[in-house]
Amino acid sequence: MNTKSIRFRLTLWYSTALIISIAVIFASFYYITQQELYRHTDIILISHAKQVAQEIKQQFEDGYISSRDSLLYNEFGVIPGMMLVITDKEGKILNSTYPNTTVEHEINGLFQQIKTETQEKVLNQSFPGSTQRTILIPLRKENELIGVVMMGHPIDVIQKSLNSLLTNLISLFALLVVPTIFGGLILAKRAMQPVNTISEQMQRITSENLKERVSSPQTHDEIETLVLTFNNLLTRLEAAFTRERQFIGDVAHELKTPLATQQSTIEVLLSKKRTNEDYQKAIADLLIDNKRLTDTVKDVLDLAWAETDKTQISTESTNLTELMEELYEITAQLAKSKGLEVVKRFEKNVNVYIPGKRDKIFRALLNIVDNAIKYTRLGTISLSLTSGNGTATIRVKDTGEGVSADDAPHLFDRFYRGKNSHRVGGTGLGLAIAYSIVTSCKGSITVKNNEGKGSTFIAIFPKTH
Ligand SMILES: Nc1ncnc2c1ncn2[C@@H]1O[C@H](COP(=O)(O)OP(=O)(O)O)[C@@H](O)[C@H]1O
Ligand SMILES: [Mg+2]
Repeated sequence: MNTKSIRFRLTLWYSTALIISIAVIFASFYYITQQELYRHTDIILISHAKQVAQEIKQQFEDGYISSRDSLLYNEFGVIPGMMLVITDKEGKILNSTYPNTTVEHEINGLFQQIKTETQEKVLNQSFPGSTQRTILIPLRKENELIGVVMMGHPIDVIQKSLNSLLTNLISLFALLVVPTIFGGLILAKRAMQPVNTISEQMQRITSENLKERVSSPQTHDEIETLVLTFNNLLTRLEAAFTRERQFIGDVAHELKTPLATQQSTIEVLLSKKRTNEDYQKAIADLLIDNKRLTDTVKDVLDLAWAETDKTQISTESTNLTELMEELYEITAQLAKSKGLEVVKRFEKNVNVYIPGKRDKIFRALLNIVDNAIKYTRLGTISLSLTSGNGTATIRVKDTGEGVSADDAPHLFDRFYRGKNSHRVGGTGLGLAIAYSIVTSCKGSITVKNNEGKGSTFIAIFPKTH
């Protein structure tokens, strides 16, 4: 099994958590039971032993210790099996319910533990034949140890019960571990099943079948959200792919026509001997086609350039006021040959800054101005720049023939040329380039149409400051 898989990790976390919980519960149960059993024994043992200790202390003070029989069974009511040992201040056994020699070693050990203490001590001590819950009471007179009373109650039964409880708990724990891990595995498998299913479906989707979609599990959970998000991504990718394919087709088409015309002109020219005028005319035709090819290739490259780093957030900022002044100068020059008037309406003494690269923004606006000059025969072209409310607005207004209602929705499409364009040269890419640049600067571009009386192109940019 892949130890990096989510399924493995889920199983591991789940099993570990469950096993630890079970272990803690079992251990607590064992501990509480043990404490409870000892507590009962201790209560009886302590109260009994203290009475005995008081009596013995008196006897020590009187200098007389009762004989074994009367002391142990008659005087203090010690029940059979219970232990009572009395030692002097050196640990020598004065009286014992065990034959002295058999327990000397243990008694000595206990004496060492209590001889320096002032308080009684309760512990488990094993003696030959049985384990005793033992209380050790030091007897002191004016801080001097005069003897020790040791009393014990057999706890073999309790220990046996505790041992059997422990064995049972451990067996039960071992029995639970395997089902816990298997349960974890099954749960993790079920949880990951939809992920495996959709990842199989995703694998089948390539650039060739972008139309396919991953089927939604209809579970209203995170997996369904993931599928929906992925399908949305596919829709966008499909649209982008179709657009790019269409574009390649359009480019090929645009290049094919002038190339074919050039070829036939050359073929006709070569078919027989021609006059000098024929050659000149043919070369002039070739030049026109050549120019068209060059323009198209240049615009295609410009479009590619406009689209580069579109997704990156530009950190550059452009002084739009300054740029518009320069644009105005160029427009005035270009318009001169056609006898068009160019006017500017810029806000005075304000410098407007927008995000984006200067040369790109300039190229976008130049394309709009170029159209205004191309599609206007008489009149005025006006450039305006206004700003306010976080945005800067540029208007390029002309008094040309305007855009027809049919053309208006498609003006910004690649290679789209309007009805009014047949008399003037162009590739149909100018506005597509402008659109691509303006949107990459988080701006927008629209056209306000006044068919027959001119058009106004409006570009709105967010300001940087
Ligand atoms: N100022 C304008 N006045 C009238 N029509 C315009 C104007 N600007 C653009 N158009 C129309 O939009 C079309 C697309 O413009 P554009 O992408 O620059 O291509 P091109 O200028 O090469 O034809 C043009 O063919 C034209 O029909
Ligand atoms: Mg143009």
